[in-house]
Amino acid sequence: MRVLTTGESLAAFGGGTFVPTMGALHDGHGSLIRRARELGRPVIVSIFVNPTQFGLSEDLTRYPRTPEADRFIAEQAGADVVFMPSPEAVYPPGLEIPIPPLPPVATHPQLEDAHRPTHFAGVCQVVARLFDLVRPRMAIFGEKDWQQLKVVEAMVEAAGIRWPGLRVIAQPTEREPDGLAMSSRNRYLRPEQRDQALGLVRALQAAHAAQHPATAELLMRDTLEAHGLIVDYAVVRHPSTLMPIESFTEPSRALIAAHLEGVRLIDNAPMTVWP
Ligand code: PAJ
Repeated sequence: MRVLTTGESLAAFGGGTFVPTMGALHDGHGSLIRRARELGRPVIVSIFVNPTQFGLSEDLTRYPRTPEADRFIAEQAGADVVFMPSPEAVYPPGLEIPIPPLPPVATHPQLEDAHRPTHFAGVCQVVARLFDLVRPRMAIFGEKDWQQLKVVEAMVEAAGIRWPGLRVIAQPTEREPDGLAMSSRNRYLRPEQRDQALGLVRALQAAHAAQHPATAELLMRDTLEAHGLIVDYAVVRHPSTLMPIESFTEPSRALIAAHLEGVRLIDNAPMTVWP
């Protein structure tokens, strides 16, 4: 496995399968890298904690950084190249890295866009920059960050020939044995907070008992609050537009963001379609 730090050194690895990450790798990232290996080599994994996607009050300095463990996990999962650029390699001083036009799914659903107003501008900026440097044929994103996945799909679609033939591939959420979605932020949870965090997956399960989206939303909110979680949103939406739906006869996805003592957790799941 090669470890590269500059964009120029990536030139020889174009046309591969790309897994962008912010490091602190866990087996959720591992599942993306293993999938990439099946889809087509070379497999390029980027590890870059992108400052522009963190809000002023967010955890940029506290974000976990574990470069040695990351290299090991990436290699075990089958990466051919790990790209670990410095901030100056991604955002060279004096060079403006533009923010692509944001698609409606990044600005209208009132989900992550409402709670982290500058987040998707930063995600689109860095993902577009990384696509320009890596020039992949396929890029894999996790369903764990469902709105991010939809935003990146829409950005690539709108970009047309900027990245010719680039395909965005979705990978299902990898979970701990108890159901908690794997996340770099889980390492902030104290043991007693772990059961609280399971409120998210229990809320998604509770939503399945409902016959109407509004009932599902109430059940999810009740479950989250019963676990002592502060709810940012707990909603049922159209899986592509992320806009509200009228009934379960439409395709739908439940999406949750909640926090406990400064740790913000998100999760989502498909809902049953009733005939
Ligand atoms: P990061 O949070 O490190 O996640 C990198 C990729 O791993 C994302 O596509 C995310 O959805 C996926 N992922 C995280 N946890 C997962 C899990 N439990 N199961 C499956 N996939 C999982 O998302 C980012 O970084 C950044 O915003 C990035 C796209 C790299 C841009 O900076």
